[in-house]
Amino acid sequence: MKKWFAVIGDPINHSKSPNMHGTWFDEMNIDAAYIPVHVKSEDLENAVASLKILGASGWNVTIPHKQTIIPYLDELDPLAEKMGAVNTVVHLPDGRLKGYNTDGAGFVHSLEEVIGKEKKNLEVLLIGAGGAARGIAFALQQYGYPNISVTNRTVLKAEEIVSELGEGRALSIEEAEQSLDKFGIVIQSTSAGLGNSEFILPLSLEKLHEGAIVSDIVYNPLMTPFLLEAQMKGAKIVNGLGMFVHQGAIAFNYWLEQYPNTNNMIKRLTDELEHS
Ligand code: ATR
Repeated sequence: MKKWFAVIGDPINHSKSPNMHGTWFDEMNIDAAYIPVHVKSEDLENAVASLKILGASGWNVTIPHKQTIIPYLDELDPLAEKMGAVNTVVHLPDGRLKGYNTDGAGFVHSLEEVIGKEKKNLEVLLIGAGGAARGIAFALQQYGYPNISVTNRTVLKAEEIVSELGEGRALSIEEAEQSLDKFGIVIQSTSAGLGNSEFILPLSLEKLHEGAIVSDIVYNPLMTPFLLEAQMKGAKIVNGLGMFVHQGAIAFNYWLEQYPNTNNMIKRLTDELEHS
């Protein structure tokens, strides 16, 4: 039987996942389909039951359902449990639904594709303490990055992440700005400036040291004001597209036990975004 997959969210029409997974199915000669499904919050429980009955092999979960889907699943991967958020569901052969979170690991794969796996001892500064930051913080820890500091406009939320990690430091934005030169990796995970054209940086990059690695999880635009500023200061920049592609590739691998080609996909989507 033809396998099929989905992405559920609200809104959903701008999702690039159907196109990405569809391309991978074609490239790998897999007879499968991947469809976007618009699911409103009040319909989530019914939607999960329907996907199950209709035999979806798995699906992605996006805003606003990443947390609220958890009660409708039978089992959680430990990392998803720690994060309290799911972006990938696997419909197991015995009929149970297992939730994973591939966002944070997607970020780390993307980072390491650019900088390698040998820079884990660098001091890492994570800017932001929302859902995205939590995923990245736990994944960095899981992948062996021992020196993580978290800074956030609301410092209490940075303290919460650090306390759940059981290591690392929470810094106010001012403290992070003052000590910026000691960080080798700086990750911007806030939604500051998203959705409007205002030039907002969540933190001043004045003291950034040349040669630092700076990443932004936003991928549309590919060159965010934050990355542009970092590049002008001599940083090596990593845009957010790799995170998107790798979170999808890791999900694909959970579903089909095969790893798709991420390099071609990043090139293809870069081209699309640069010409849109
Ligand atoms: P996501 O799931 O995308 O991480 P979120 O959980 O709503 O979204 O978190 C948004 C993050 O962006 C938070 O760290 C938020 O800071 P606060 O915790 O202080 O709200 C940060 N953020 C949003 N707008 C911001 C702005 N204008 N300046 C600085 N930080 C901002």
